[in-house]
Amino acid sequence: MIYFVRLHPLKSILGPWFPAFSSFWMRWQRWQGKLSFTADNLLAKYGHIVRIAPNMVLINDSEALAQVFNRRDLDTAPTAIRALKAGGHDWTVTYPQHEKARERRNLVMTATTTKNLRYWQPIFESNIAEIINDLAASKGKKSEDIVHHLRINTLLNSQAVMGGSHIKLDPATFPKTVGKYNVLVVWRLCLPEWTFKWLNYSPFPNAGYRVRSSDLLFYLGRDLCQQAAAANPEHHDEAPTVYDLFTKTNEKTGGITWTQGEISAEMAGQVLAATETTSSALALIFYELAKNQPLMEELYREIRHMDGYTNIESLKLLDTCTKEEGLRFRPPVAFTGSRLSPKGGINVLGYYIPEGTVMTIQSLSLSRQRPGLFPNYDVYDPKRWLEEARLDERRKMTAPFGVGSRRCPGGNMAICQMRLLIAATIREFNVLLAPETTLASMEPFEANGIRSRYDECYLIFKPCGGSEIRELGL
Ligand code: HEM
Repeated sequence: MIYFVRLHPLKSILGPWFPAFSSFWMRWQRWQGKLSFTADNLLAKYGHIVRIAPNMVLINDSEALAQVFNRRDLDTAPTAIRALKAGGHDWTVTYPQHEKARERRNLVMTATTTKNLRYWQPIFESNIAEIINDLAASKGKKSEDIVHHLRINTLLNSQAVMGGSHIKLDPATFPKTVGKYNVLVVWRLCLPEWTFKWLNYSPFPNAGYRVRSSDLLFYLGRDLCQQAAAANPEHHDEAPTVYDLFTKTNEKTGGITWTQGEISAEMAGQVLAATETTSSALALIFYELAKNQPLMEELYREIRHMDGYTNIESLKLLDTCTKEEGLRFRPPVAFTGSRLSPKGGINVLGYYIPEGTVMTIQSLSLSRQRPGLFPNYDVYDPKRWLEEARLDERRKMTAPFGVGSRRCPGGNMAICQMRLLIAATIREFNVLLAPETTLASMEPFEANGIRSRYDECYLIFKPCGGSEIRELGL
């Protein structure tokens, strides 16, 4: 203990004494699902860099972040690698230096360019029409768990972009499986490896399901690959799929050599990266809109005259509600990026960070720690983004997709889906809080990302015709 607190090269970085000598503090915070918000409180107390584990610092200064995260040669944290396994296989998301990881980033970006997304959009629209039908079936009389619907919807969208328009994965158990997997990731970060072998044979069905969820995701990835590989050559999509780009050698895009296990785990990881983030962000946005009826009404007025989805990108309030304030207020990825300090260490904000130290960032704190720019930072307030004064400064203070050379390659696809889904739903329904949805049930909880306390969000979707305010406004 004396070594870590008094002699360790990180000793001059401020922070509470307990995390400085034991990782137990961080595990305990993770276990309780509140690491991000507790770490945010530490930043408020100690400044822009704080030590949150013997070997880990949280940085919250945009210039320092650019200095660390723009580098292409820094590896990610090893514990994150272990936590994100699918069916016993690592997926390359966590290996920046891995040759495959470097190639695959560009391929995901190629598959989700604006031009390619235009090709996939009719499929997204038809999947959205399905979710609208499902929600309409309850006629505003029964509450619906929007998290469940969104997980299915984002899976349907992702399967097309990942494998092609003919892919038909079975979505029935997907919402439950990812819910369990998210908790498994927390367990993997908190418990020793040997516990999982034991838990596999646990008499408690929930614990067993959680541990197996990683295999179930792997099977989903394998199914996707098998269907993509078996595609009828006459059935040809005009946009390249992620699977095509990964597997077919092509002068422009490369192509990677995988084993069956690797590509299945990779596709499972891709599906997870694409669905969980987007669906949890959307669920929390729906919740905030349902709490703020005048705001939803204003949004409805902006959307209602749109012809289909034409020029959806130009709707300002829609954008501020979704990509700007939605992703600022509750960024779906909690610790938005982590890198290891390189050989010889690195100097950050005047401190020497020795080799092997984990340097991490969280988008959540960038705005929360700037009350001058975000006076009511703890409130979902999309209209702050409509004020021109200091807009550029504010924009620099959110990074839900990460920072620098390894930031999320799927941002384009996420935003496209978010716009379409919110617009389609608000156009059709007046969204209301269900009685079972309370402040306590919606308290942010971290389990492989920020979500609601019980991983559900019950809302009532009242067809628009039922809203008197709207009828008057028409
Ligand atoms: C709102 C939705 C999303 C959010 C907030 C989000 C956020 C992130 C973040 C924070 C990272 C880590 C960046 C880093 O380490 O610096 C990441 C990585 C990644 N995301 Fe996303 N993401 C979203 C949607 C998507 C979608 C739709 C896809 C797929 C098309 C996707 C694919 C990936 C991949 C493949 C990586 C790993 C990148 C690499 O290997 O360097 N994400 N995402």
